[in-house]
Amino acid sequence: MNEMLGLYPQWYVPGIGTAWVMGIIGTIHVLASHTSVGAAWLFALLATKSVAENKPEIMVYLKRYGMFLLVFSYIIGSVTGPGIWYSVTVASPRGISGLIHNFVWLWASEWVFFFVEVIGVYAMVYLIGKIDNKTYLKLAWSFAVASWATMILIVPILSFMMWPGNDRWYHTGSTFDAAFNLNYFAHLGIRTAFMFAVAGAVGGIIAATMKDRETRIEITRFLSKMGLAGMFLMIVMFMWYTATLPPNARLIMDTQMMPKYGSTLAALLIATLIYFGLTAWKPLQLRQGFAIAMTFAIGLFGLWPEERSRESMRKPYVAGQYIYSNQFFSRDVPGKGVISDMPLIAEKGVLATDYFIPAELRTITPENQLRAGELLTRVMCANCHSLEPDGALRPLPALLGHSDEPKMIKAYLDGALYHGMIPYMPKMPLPDDERAAMALYIASLSAPQPPVIAANPAKPIQQGVN
Ligand code: HEC
Repeated sequence: MNEMLGLYPQWYVPGIGTAWVMGIIGTIHVLASHTSVGAAWLFALLATKSVAENKPEIMVYLKRYGMFLLVFSYIIGSVTGPGIWYSVTVASPRGISGLIHNFVWLWASEWVFFFVEVIGVYAMVYLIGKIDNKTYLKLAWSFAVASWATMILIVPILSFMMWPGNDRWYHTGSTFDAAFNLNYFAHLGIRTAFMFAVAGAVGGIIAATMKDRETRIEITRFLSKMGLAGMFLMIVMFMWYTATLPPNARLIMDTQMMPKYGSTLAALLIATLIYFGLTAWKPLQLRQGFAIAMTFAIGLFGLWPEERSRESMRKPYVAGQYIYSNQFFSRDVPGKGVISDMPLIAEKGVLATDYFIPAELRTITPENQLRAGELLTRVMCANCHSLEPDGALRPLPALLGHSDEPKMIKAYLDGALYHGMIPYMPKMPLPDDERAAMALYIASLSAPQPPVIAANPAKPIQQGVN
């Protein structure tokens, strides 16, 4: 057994928690990146149509749309992409490390295709009318395929976060066992369908401003059909996807996500179908404002609940069903040389085995008990729960009925959490004195008098390695 836990310092974000920081950046990124990939297909399809039917006006649209994409999706996408890396690296260092150890070559290959994609969009815009049609179409289709390849190569990583989809991977540790399973193909299907739908909506932002009436009608109809096809495909893929989820995710989806977001998602689905239906029927009625509103609605009422749900549904894990969201390893993974943290924390506790605990908190005393409890609660719970009573992320005081009774809270820690019996929360077999310190601190969050320790939240609690 190891003597120390391989944990990193904790990043604590008051109020919204690190999960929301990642969620907000991730949602913006998904909107921008999926728009880019869908738009690359739109480019190839419309360019082919323009050449086949000898309609050069369509190219005028493509040129404007390409310029718009450069600003809208490529710049926003390229800024938020590294933003995801920064935030996940500090929020979930072991999660990201696990992913890198599995997928570094997939990521590297994805980057190559992304590079082609970025050069592609510049080439698409710049070369319109400057090279012969045949070459232009070849480039357009290479651009579309390279863009989609970035999605094909990133989705395995996202799917693996939900689960490897089989037991083999835990023994082989092979990238292919981790990546390509039914959950992956269904997930890729949903995202592919989504990229068509969102490109249909974003495309309208430029289509609505086209001067030439015929072109405007034709392109708007094309976008509507693409959007509708994307939406229908997405419904089918979603049903397939839910059938490929692990049992804990199904449970959370049915009991928490559907009651919480089901009606929003259904309303958005209907609104989107009506929107595409209307714009197909009366293309000239499409105003730029409608298309912008539709794009925002998809982001806010579609993507945000979807990203939040996917994140919630894989609880208690952050990746691979072996790394808990609070960064502990839940089990051995022989294929990767990973050893479960559970026996060590059961034997020695977290205060004695986490490198980043200040020296004076290694042993609990009556004087430091509250402070030790605060640190333990941050390490054990804050990845998934706000500690502030009015926090946005499943606020812990509220979930405990604002109880200020350490006894009651300790009973909760001693029972289901200790034995790991709640499907969406990690097992936490901590020693008795650590559970008592946490209960004391969690109760103090709901105490009428704010605890002294919380009165100065600016003071960093982890002063570094002892
Ligand atoms: C891996 C993420 C995760 C961690 C870590 C975690 N929880 Fe939770 N917890 C959840 C989820 C998800 C729910 C369901 C929340 C909801 O209803 O929105 C939940 C619900 C709860 C509830 C409500 C009652 C219940 O059983 O559903 C309590 C109380 C609670 N957590 C306490 C804690 C405490 C105390 C800790 C730290 C010792 C902790 N949790 C750590 C994910 C987590």
